[in-house]
Amino acid sequence: MTTTHSEVPHAKRLGAAPAADDLSPAERMSVDELRATQLERLQWTLQHAYENVPAYRRKFDEAGVHPDDCRSLEDLAKFPYTTKADLRDNYPFGMFAVPPERVRRIHASSGTTGRPTVVGYTEEDIDTWATVMARSIFAAGGRPGHKVHVAYGYGLFTGGLGAHYGVEKLGATAIPASGGMTARQVQIITDFRPEVIMVTPTYMLTLLDEFERQGIDPRTSSLKVGIFGAEPWTEQMRAEIEQRLDLDAVDIYGLSEVMGPGVAQECVETKDGLHIWEDHFYPEVVDPVEGFVLPDGETGELVFTSLTKQALPIIRYRTRDLTALRPGTARPSYRRMDKVTGRSDDMIILRGVNLFPTQIEEIVLATPGLAPHFQLRLTRRDRMDHLTVLVEARPDTPAERRPAAAAEIAARVKDGAGVSVGVEVLDPDSLERSVGKLRRVIDQRPRD
Ligand code: DLL
Repeated sequence: MTTTHSEVPHAKRLGAAPAADDLSPAERMSVDELRATQLERLQWTLQHAYENVPAYRRKFDEAGVHPDDCRSLEDLAKFPYTTKADLRDNYPFGMFAVPPERVRRIHASSGTTGRPTVVGYTEEDIDTWATVMARSIFAAGGRPGHKVHVAYGYGLFTGGLGAHYGVEKLGATAIPASGGMTARQVQIITDFRPEVIMVTPTYMLTLLDEFERQGIDPRTSSLKVGIFGAEPWTEQMRAEIEQRLDLDAVDIYGLSEVMGPGVAQECVETKDGLHIWEDHFYPEVVDPVEGFVLPDGETGELVFTSLTKQALPIIRYRTRDLTALRPGTARPSYRRMDKVTGRSDDMIILRGVNLFPTQIEEIVLATPGLAPHFQLRLTRRDRMDHLTVLVEARPDTPAERRPAAAAEIAARVKDGAGVSVGVEVLDPDSLERSVGKLRRVIDQRPRD
């Protein structure tokens, strides 16, 4: 069955959605086939982890469970969680399940404090990763023959190389721009004419400003699809980027511990959350405090178990990312996750009220006269925490508009979240620009 363009109102720049024949056999599996594949792979993974990683063996033994206890997918709930602390405690390679000579690549994510989290891949793992990334780029609207500008950082971060291998696997052409040297990126996009860009949404904003600074209308660029991820971003941000760039902006999700980018991908024909490539990554959503499994449709903390990874099998990894699972749409057998609006550790608790940076993003982008560049500064005065929203005016905003815009933001935060914040509207170009993942919250409170 082929979907015609008229049935896919959101895909602005692409032709028809892919015909079923264009999808890989894995994407065409029925739910029953998928569940059977998952169970078989889960049983293998639990066994592999138990036999080859002393830390898993210890944890399973302490919890009184054995891989043989897993007879159905529901049985996974009997197994203990894995956290970032487990990876840190076994730094650098203690969680690896294969001998060192089988590890072909290592990546690491820095985190804000302490040791980095180290992850490893065998040759087959790298191939699996490239396969799910190629699938993701295709679902986003990328096709063999396209040129793909990769502006995720190359290096220990999984973004650049993860995207790169997927582009090549798809049969498209990779332009490995990496992050930084913004003026040159704009020149390369203008001269090489890529159809697809892969970059963090905040670095896309930096690139957009640079287009304008060079006097080039970004809407005239060759770009048709933007694959944005590695940090939370809102529907308002999607609208801002699509409007300024005239492309289809879709979301990509992943994390180093589970693989890297390409764990879940939003399909361009529906733009309704991200399909999780469940044949390789088994999702659960759990209560973030109590840890019990929540039914599909309820929001909680996302937990992943790898199903095929060899070098670093990961069992029930607590991502800290908050989302809900939904039924599949554009890839019917694969469940979707809602766009991740925040991590439990990004949450600001201000005088007892929980606030996510994405809530502020929605408000800033809906306030006329303001640019999408903002930061949140936390300070302490008289033993009380204060939050100040620092936001730039757009270049064409008259000076008289600024106080009104500040008052509107403060009022909408107060109405929506029930807490008072300060707002400063700054000159254009006064805040630090993103070159990758942006740090939204600047915490200047004294350490207790
Ligand atoms: O950020 C992998 C990645 C690279 C994903 C490029 C997408 C594109 P880490 O550095 O390990 O890996 O950070 C993982 O980033 O737990 C989320 O909190 C956040 N994150 C990643 N993608 C999204 C997204 C890469 N689409 C952490 N929306 C995750 C919201 C995201 N948050």
